[in-house]
This record gives sequence, C-alpha cells and structure tokens, in this order.
Amino acid sequence: MPNGWMSRALAATVLVTSFAAGEALAQNVTYTDNQALRGSQEFAGACSKCHGGGATGGQGPALVGAKFDQAWRGKPAIQLFEFISGNMPYDDPGGLAKDTYVVIMAHILKLNGIPAGAALVVDPPGTIPAK
Ligand code: HEC
Repeated sequence: MPNGWMSRALAATVLVTSFAAGEALAQNVTYTDNQALRGSQEFAGACSKCHGGGATGGQGPALVGAKFDQAWRGKPAIQLFEFISGNMPYDDPGGLAKDTYVVIMAHILKLNGIPAGAALVVDPPGTIPAK
C-alpha cells in the first residue's frame, strides 16, 4: 500500500473526527414544549413575583428581550442553568428541585424564541444561540 495514501486517509479521519467534536460543542440548546409548559407553571409559582408574569421584569430584571440577549446569548447553556439553580429564587437560592430548574429554564428559552427540540437536561450541553 503506498505510504502517501495511508497518511492522507489518516489525516482525513482526524479531520472528520475533530469536525464532529466541534459540531457537538457548537450545538444549540433545546427543550421540549412539554417542559416549557410545565416550566411556565413553576415560573408562576417561584419566579414571577419578582420577574413579572411574562418575565418582563419587576423587582428583578427582565428575563426576555434585549436583557436576555445581552446576558445569555452565545454563552454555554450550562452557565444559565448554574446561575438559576445556584442563585434563584433570590430569596431561596437553590431551593427548588433540579428538575424544576430544568423546566423553568425551558420556559425562559421558549419565551425568548429559541426553538424547541430534544429535551433539556440537568447541566445541559450546548449553547444559547445568538440572534
Ligand atoms: C425575591 C425576588 C426574586 C425571585 C423570587 C427570583 N428572582 Fe431572579 N433575580 C432577582 C434579582 C434581584 C436579580 C438580580 C440579581 C443580581 O443581579 O445579582 C435576579 C436575577 C435573575 C437572573 C439573571 C438576569 C440577568 O439577565 O442577569 C435570572 C436568569 C433569574 N433571576 C432567574 C430567576 C428564576 C428562574 C427564578 C425562579 C426560580 C427567579 N429568578 C426568582 C430576584 C428574584
């Protein structure tokens, strides 16, 4: 077998493998509509008294629109998950179940027009897509 062929085949394999890894990292975060629906109920109970019913802001900042775009778009989804599950509700940080934070995050993503897809999970992989 000619040596040149082998090394070209190897180089192609390495290229394809690293491309696949890059794709996985760059994947956008998703959630299901059912999660977002459950999240809207949890949000009403645990978050809306400070952030407003539509998350448009009140005692706490807006979680939609320009404020959300600036704070979260282009960032790893896990940063938003860790912020919410570690710091919110402001008067009871970390006080909710992990799965409750997951569905609340799904609701916030939906409010911001991020498309649904595969289920959101605890410590979610992927990125919050830029606009
Ligand atoms: C008692 C009032 C209160 C409650 C309840 C509350 N928050 Fe907050 N939230 C705040 C305040 C105040 C800030 C700003 C904190 C800061 O900047 O340090 C904030 C900040 C945030 C931010 C960051 C906003 C940004 O773009 O920088 C997110 C996300 C958030 N809250 C989500 C939630 C979620 C989800 C819940 C429900 C589980 C919740 N909050 C419940 C008061 C509250």
